[in-house]
Amino acid sequence: MLEQRIRELEAAFLARISSAQSSEELEAARLAAFGRKDGAFNQISKEMPRLEPEERKRVGMLLNSAKQSLERALEARKEREAEAALEARLDGEWIDLTLPASGARRGHLHPITQIQRELEDLFVSLGFTVLDGPEVETEYHNFDALNIPPDHPARDMQDTFWLEGGNLLRTHTSPVQIRGMERLGPPLRMIAPGRAFRNEAVDASHEHTFYQLEGMMVDRDVSVAHLLYFMKTLLTAVFGREVTVRLRPGYFPFVEPGFELDIRCLICGGDGCAVCKQSGWVELLPCGLVNPNVLRMSGIDPEEWNGFAFGLGLTRLVMMRYGIDDIRWLQSGDLRFLEQF
Ligand code: PHE
Repeated sequence: MLEQRIRELEAAFLARISSAQSSEELEAARLAAFGRKDGAFNQISKEMPRLEPEERKRVGMLLNSAKQSLERALEARKEREAEAALEARLDGEWIDLTLPASGARRGHLHPITQIQRELEDLFVSLGFTVLDGPEVETEYHNFDALNIPPDHPARDMQDTFWLEGGNLLRTHTSPVQIRGMERLGPPLRMIAPGRAFRNEAVDASHEHTFYQLEGMMVDRDVSVAHLLYFMKTLLTAVFGREVTVRLRPGYFPFVEPGFELDIRCLICGGDGCAVCKQSGWVELLPCGLVNPNVLRMSGIDPEEWNGFAFGLGLTRLVMMRYGIDDIRWLQSGDLRFLEQF
């Protein structure tokens, strides 16, 4: 009787397992067969104790082999289910090796670097050498050798970041003039682009860190006419058009005479704005003839040699060229700003 039921159950469950449509149906079949409480085979086990020992042994063996064959069938079905699931997933994924690659995102040079390189090329074509100097300078190169002795009021014009040991962050690129004269001697044509630092309150037109391009020419019989020729060539190259300029007397201890070359503000066209401080003009190019004291201190005889020097504000120049109305954008690191150049 029991043996008959076991064979029927085995056949029924094998059929159920092989026809299951999903892993849920498979699990339901497993519980119906082997579940602890209501599993069909558990019911049979409960009836075993009342059998004669001989019969119990036969029934037990049959029960075990039926269970094992069902477990094997379940295991096989589960493996096939897993394989089918994997295949379905792979069918949904694909890769097309013939598609063009998406290009790498490339950066570009900062607008100040771009303008600096343009000017380097221009001045090299005019016979100038490009020099580099340290940003941490000695007091001597930044001030004394430029005819600015310790108690000179001009020191107050430039709020200085002093460092330990008497050194400082250079307040302008002019100390490279001194280094150029020391190293190369006359005749000399040099430019020196680089950063300068001033301990200033930051606003739309002032930064603690900004870029200048220093220039110097020392030769025989250099005049203001030479200076003006080079300055006009420079400005035409930068703006690619005529800009309105004016020359004012300007005071710098290292030049005599000294000038401020201003350009009509290109942001507002001269009407007045934050960048030109409502004046319509922007100071762009302080310059002048080299003060004889400066030549003498660097070992050059002012009876034989003279020269001109200028200190172009590169940061201002970029602002004028692109119509940027706040200097703080330039070092903001904001990609929305930088991606426009
Ligand atoms: N070094 C001066 C400054 O930054 C500018 C300057 C340079 C003026 C060369 C005259 C000649 O203020």
